[in-house]
Amino acid sequence: MIEIQHLSKRFGRLQAVDDLSLTVLPGEVLGFLGPNGAGKSTTMKMVTGFLRPDKGSIVVQGHDMAKDPIAAKACIGYLPEGAPLYPDMTPQTLLRFAARARSIPAEKQAGAIDRAIGLLELEGVRHQRIETLSKGFKRRVGLAQAILHDPKVLILDEPTDGLDPNQKDQVRELIRSMSADKVIVLSTHILEEVEAVCTRAAIISEGQLRFNGKPSELRENSRYAGAVELRFEGQAPADSFLTLSNLPGVERVEALEESDYHQGWRLFPKAGTPILHAVSDHVRSHGWQVRDMHVDRGRLDDVFREITRSGMAPSPRPSQPQPAQALAQEEV
Ligand SMILES: Nc1ncnc2c1ncn2[C@@H]1O[C@H](COP(=O)(O)OP(=O)(O)OP(=O)(O)O)[C@@H](O)[C@H]1O
Ligand SMILES: [Mg+2]
Repeated sequence: MIEIQHLSKRFGRLQAVDDLSLTVLPGEVLGFLGPNGAGKSTTMKMVTGFLRPDKGSIVVQGHDMAKDPIAAKACIGYLPEGAPLYPDMTPQTLLRFAARARSIPAEKQAGAIDRAIGLLELEGVRHQRIETLSKGFKRRVGLAQAILHDPKVLILDEPTDGLDPNQKDQVRELIRSMSADKVIVLSTHILEEVEAVCTRAAIISEGQLRFNGKPSELRENSRYAGAVELRFEGQAPADSFLTLSNLPGVERVEALEESDYHQGWRLFPKAGTPILHAVSDHVRSHGWQVRDMHVDRGRLDDVFREITRSGMAPSPRPSQPQPAQALAQEEV
C-alpha cells in the first residue's frame, strides 16, 4: 500500500503540494484529478522518490521513501509525465536496459521483455528507433517499461494521454486486469476515465486534497444528479412550465438549451426526492407529445469545476454523502 502523510513541496514562492495526506490500498485504482498545475505530477514525483518533499512522509509497501529509497523504489513502476524515453534506443534495447537497471535476473529478462511487449502490443515496432515512433507508441513503450518488473505499485502520470480511442480502451483494460493485486495511482484529465477504471477519485487543487471518494459519489454531488430532462415534440405546451413547477417534488424548472424544433425543460428535484414517476404521470395525464425523458446521473465536469474553482466542497445535497465527509472518513 501507499501511505502519504502531510506531504508538502514548495518551488520558490509557489506551494505546489500543500499538506497532502492519502492512503491507497491493494486492489485500489486511484484516479488523481486536478486542473493544470494542481500538483499531481509533483506529488507523483515525490511518491516515486524522484523529488524530495519539504515535509511529510511516504511509505510504499512498508518502506519509507526517505529512509529506504532503494527498497521503496523497487516496488514501484512509474510512467512519468510525457513518458520520457531515450530516443536512440529501440523498445527492445530500452526494455533490456530497464530490466538490468531493475536487477531482473539474466535468465528472466527475455521473458519479462516479451511479456511487456506483448501486453502493450509493441511487437511490430520492437526494433524501431524510439524517436521514429508515433506519440501513442512512445507512450506504450513507457508503459511497458513501467510494468516490466511486475511491480506491486504502479504510478502512471497520464497513461492514456495521446492514445487513440482503441488504445485508450486497451490500456484501461490492462490497468483493470492488473489491479487485483496491485496498488495503482493514475492521473488523468479525462473525467470519464476515472469512472471507467478507478475505484476511487482524489481531486487536488492548488496542492490540496479537495475530494477523496468513490467516482459515483463525485457524480452524485453534481447539482444535475436526479434532475429530469423532458423534451417535447416541437414547442413545449403552454401550461407545461407552470404545472410542472407546481409538482410536489419539484424544486425548480429551467429551459433546456435546445434546437429550434424541440423545446424542453429540466426539472430539479427537492433534495432526495425522486420525481421521474410524478413527471411521467403528469405528462401522460395531459397527453403531451414527448420526444424523450430521462433522469440525469449528474455531471463530472460540473462537480470538478465546482470543487476546483471554489476551493470548497460542492454545494450541499443533504441526501448525499458530502465530499468533506468522504474526505474525513478516508483521510489517514
Ligand atoms: N521544478 C519546478 N520548479 C518550479 N516550479 C515547478 C517545478 N515543477 C513544478 N512546478 C510548478 O508546480 C505546480 C504544480 O505542477 P505539477 O506539474 O505538479 O502540476 P500538475 O497537476 O501535474 O499539472 P498538469 O495537469 O498540467 O500536468 C505548477 O505551478 C508548476 O509550474
Ligand atoms: Mg502533470
